[in-house]
Amino acid sequence: MRRIIVSLLLTVGITGAAQAAGDPAAGQAKAAVCGACHGPDGNSMAPIFPKLAGQGERYLNKQLHDIKSGARQVPEMTGLLTNLNDQDLADLAAYFNSQHGSVGAADDKVVARGEALFRGGKLDAGMPACTGCHSPNGAGNAMAGFPHLSGQHAQYVTKQLTDFREGNRTNDGDTMVMRSIAAKLSNKDIEAIASYVQGLH
Ligand code: HEC
Ligand code: HEC
Repeated sequence: MRRIIVSLLLTVGITGAAQAAGDPAAGQAKAAVCGACHGPDGNSMAPIFPKLAGQGERYLNKQLHDIKSGARQVPEMTGLLTNLNDQDLADLAAYFNSQHGSVGAADDKVVARGEALFRGGKLDAGMPACTGCHSPNGAGNAMAGFPHLSGQHAQYVTKQLTDFREGNRTNDGDTMVMRSIAAKLSNKDIEAIASYVQGLH
């Protein structure tokens, strides 16, 4: 069984962070400092700050470890995680995952292009549809650690896809799953997908 799980993890290119079980109530008590940017319930107001509410626990936990170690660079969070241990990070992930995510609106002018890319990919360029991993409604796959995208701020999604494409975000595993996908996206594609995702539910 263990070997099967390990090979599944390798297949999707995820190096699992140590998984301590998180306690949402304990996480809430530690989340006050996060609320200033991410919103007290994980629904941030400013579109440069990602919404964390309802984002899968496993994905959140991995990002927190990556941000703490510097594998993912988030200058705004410098020093914030230094004194938090694995249990603290697991509790924070459990808390934000337990909150209900809000949804925004898509821009009518680009939604058709965004939907076509999200659901159909770019087969001529060898780019798969996003739905395969992030699910048709954008809810992701919490067990696999594929993030929830629906309702996320378009500005944040645009930045992530651009960062993956330009090699400024490199914590997507040895298979470079998101870097290779984003490499196939133009700025216009990214803008359209990000808008579509913001309104998706
Ligand atoms: C000063 C603002 C600020 C504070 C305070 C802050 N963050 Fe962040 N956080 C950010 C920014 C900005 C990003 C996204 C950076 C980027 O563009 O990649 C981020 C990203 C994240 C991500 C990745 C989200 C994703 O969808 O991949 C997680 C998880 C996270 N923060 C959790 C926390 C937690 C938990 C705390 C409290 C301990 C916290 N943050 C405090 C600004 C902040
Ligand atoms: C083969 C699976 C797979 C496919 C297909 C895929 N993704 Fe991803 N995506 C992932 C994984 C895994 C991550 C998390 C990487 C990490 O751990 O940092 C991710 C992360 C992301 C993120 C960052 C989320 C955040 O909160 O920071 C965005 C945005 C994203 N994907 C958008 C897309 C879009 C748009 C498409 C289609 C064009 C797509 N993905 C196709 C697996 C996939």
